[in-house]
Amino acid sequence: MIAASARNVVMEFEGGGGRTRVLHGASIEVPAGGLTLLVGPSGCGKTTLLSVLSGTLAATSGEVEVMGERLSDLDDAARVRLRRRRIGFIFQQYNLLPSLTVAENAAIPLVTAGMKLSEASRRAQPVLERLGMAAHLDKLPRQLSGGQQQRVAIARALVHEPALVVCDEPTAALDAKTGHTVMELLRAVAAAPGRAVLVVTHDSRIHEFADRIVEMEDGRVLGERILHRPEAN
Ligand SMILES: Nc1ncnc2c1ncn2[C@@H]1O[C@H](COP(=O)(O)OP(=O)(O)OP(=O)(O)O)[C@@H](O)[C@H]1O
Ligand SMILES: [Mg+2]
Repeated sequence: MIAASARNVVMEFEGGGGRTRVLHGASIEVPAGGLTLLVGPSGCGKTTLLSVLSGTLAATSGEVEVMGERLSDLDDAARVRLRRRRIGFIFQQYNLLPSLTVAENAAIPLVTAGMKLSEASRRAQPVLERLGMAAHLDKLPRQLSGGQQQRVAIARALVHEPALVVCDEPTAALDAKTGHTVMELLRAVAAAPGRAVLVVTHDSRIHEFADRIVEMEDGRVLGERILHRPEAN
């Protein structure tokens, strides 16, 4: 099963009196039951492709499918619903809400789905604990280090058990040991049937966690290396 795919995606940004083409017909498939890494030089379009693939950014042209639904067939409300329910995001900016505690920030996807904040915060605790954040549950984001903030963003991406998890440099702010813990958690998520994890990274230390490595350069996907085949599911 393919969790998400992009075919011949072109992305152009307006600005500076012209259009800049950033993706030149990029294609990628993210199979369920595995962890896919997306690698390539700075500025080659990884974050842009991740944003298009998760329905956060509308492509100029090309086709994107997430969990069997073609994004261009959905209206805005349906696209937002799909994103909220089925996708977890970890972006380069953590976007934590400054007035909410660690536990409350991690609980946001559950609150958006209709759960009471107190109940949702309780539900967020186990994943925060796995990420070594047990002592910080009631702190505010400004009382945390960069790496701790990153772990809150990771917990928030996983708390509602989304089918597709997309992560932009999830270990950038972390030391080797904490980065290892994060990648083991993401690998465990990816191993579940019907779930998939896509990770953009510069960090060659985490290549060992990948089932597939997809390489990008200059707005194009060059190819992929398969390291482990997912179990049939
Ligand atoms: N909103 C935007 N408007 C104009 N240009 C943009 C916009 N977003 C990205 N770009 C340009 O698109 C190109 C690809 O950017 P992108 O952020 O996807 O790269 P990246 O591979 O994620 O790089 P990095 O590894 O440094 O995060 C860059 O040249 C960038 O300047
Ligand atoms: Mg980027």
